[in-house]
Amino acid sequence: MSTYILGIESSCDDTSAAVLQDTRILSNVIANQDIHKQYGGVVPELASRAHQQNIIPVVEVALRQAKISKNQLSAVAFTRGPGLLGSLLVGTSFAKSFALGLGIPIIEVNHLRAHILAHFIQASDDHRTPQFPFLCLTVSGGHTQIVRVDSPSEMKILGQTIDDAAGEAFDKSAKIMGLPYPGGPHIDKLAAIGNPQAYAFPEPKIQGLNYSFSGLKTSFLYFIRDELKKNEQFIEENKADLASSIQYTIIRILLSKLRRAARETGITEIAIAGGVSANSGLRHTLNEMAAKEGWNTYLPAFQFTTDNAAMIAIAGYFKYLNKEFAPQTITPFAKSLF
Ligand code: KG4
Ligand code: ZN
Repeated sequence: MSTYILGIESSCDDTSAAVLQDTRILSNVIANQDIHKQYGGVVPELASRAHQQNIIPVVEVALRQAKISKNQLSAVAFTRGPGLLGSLLVGTSFAKSFALGLGIPIIEVNHLRAHILAHFIQASDDHRTPQFPFLCLTVSGGHTQIVRVDSPSEMKILGQTIDDAAGEAFDKSAKIMGLPYPGGPHIDKLAAIGNPQAYAFPEPKIQGLNYSFSGLKTSFLYFIRDELKKNEQFIEENKADLASSIQYTIIRILLSKLRRAARETGITEIAIAGGVSANSGLRHTLNEMAAKEGWNTYLPAFQFTTDNAAMIAIAGYFKYLNKEFAPQTITPFAKSLF
C-alpha cells in the first residue's frame, strides 16, 4: 500500500504544500510573497500574514493536482525550523489542526535536512539518487554548510559559515549594485555575460572546513564606494563584470572547502542543495571540479533548489517509515538544532 505524505513549508517567505506517493512527487505548489520586494528583504510580520492568507488555498491546489482526497493522506509533515518564528507558527498550527481533523500523525522536519533529502524525490523515471555516504554542500539564504550524510537520519555538519550565508553574500552584493531582492538570480544572469576575472576580491582565511562571507561583502562595498567617487556611472558601466567577479569569488570560496572535505573524507559522492544551488556558475564549476577529482555529482532539479514543500514531504516520508511522529504539543524553533 502506498504512503501519501502532505508536506507543508512556511519557514521564510514561500508558502508551499506538496504531496508525495512514497518517494514519487504528485504535486509541489509554491506561493511566493511578492510583498517583500519593495522592502529589499523579507519583513517577518508581513510574511506571517501572507502565510496565513495562502496556506489553505495552497494546500487545496496541492491536493487537487495530486488527484487524491485528503482522506487518503497517511501523515502531515511540516517544517519545525529553523526559520522565522511567526512564519513557522502558521505552518505548524495548520499541520496540527489538519492532521487532528483527519486523525493522522504529524511529522516534524528540519528545514536544512530537508534541503539535502530533496535529492531523493522521484520527479522523473531516470532520477539518480546519491549513494551513502555522500557530502552535501547546502547553500541557502540563511545557511552554508558541508554535511556528511550516512543515511536519511544520520547527518553530521563538517563545516559551516561563522557569519553570513552564501545566499546573503549574493543578495547583499546585489543590493550594493542596486539590483532587486533577492539578488542571487540577478547576479547569476549578469555574471553569464561578464568577465569573472575583471576584479579580484580577497578570499577569507578561515580554519578547517568553516566559511566566512562578511569580509567579502565589506570589501565589495568599499571597492564600489571608491570607484563611484571616481566615476558615478561605475556600476552601470561594469554591471556584468562586477556580478561575474563577485560570483566567481563566492564559488571559489564554496568549492575549495568542499574539495578539501571530499579529500579529507575520501567521499566521492557529492551533492549540492539550497537556493544558491540553482546558480549556473556554481553548477558548471562543480561539474568541472568533479571531472578532475573523480566525483559523482548530484544537482537538484530547479524546483527543489529554493524552498519547497516536496523536500519537507520526502524528509517526512523517511521519518514515517520509522514511525517518528511528533506530539500535538510540539512548537517550532527559530534557530537551528541540526
Ligand atoms: O533555500 P532558499 O530558497 O531559502 C532559504 O532557506 O534561505 O534560498 C534563497 C537564497 C537567496 O539568497 C537567493 O538569492 C539565492 O537563494 N538564490 C540564488 C539563485 N537562486 C536563488 N543565488 C545565486 N544564484 C541563483 N541562481
Ligand atoms: Zn531553504
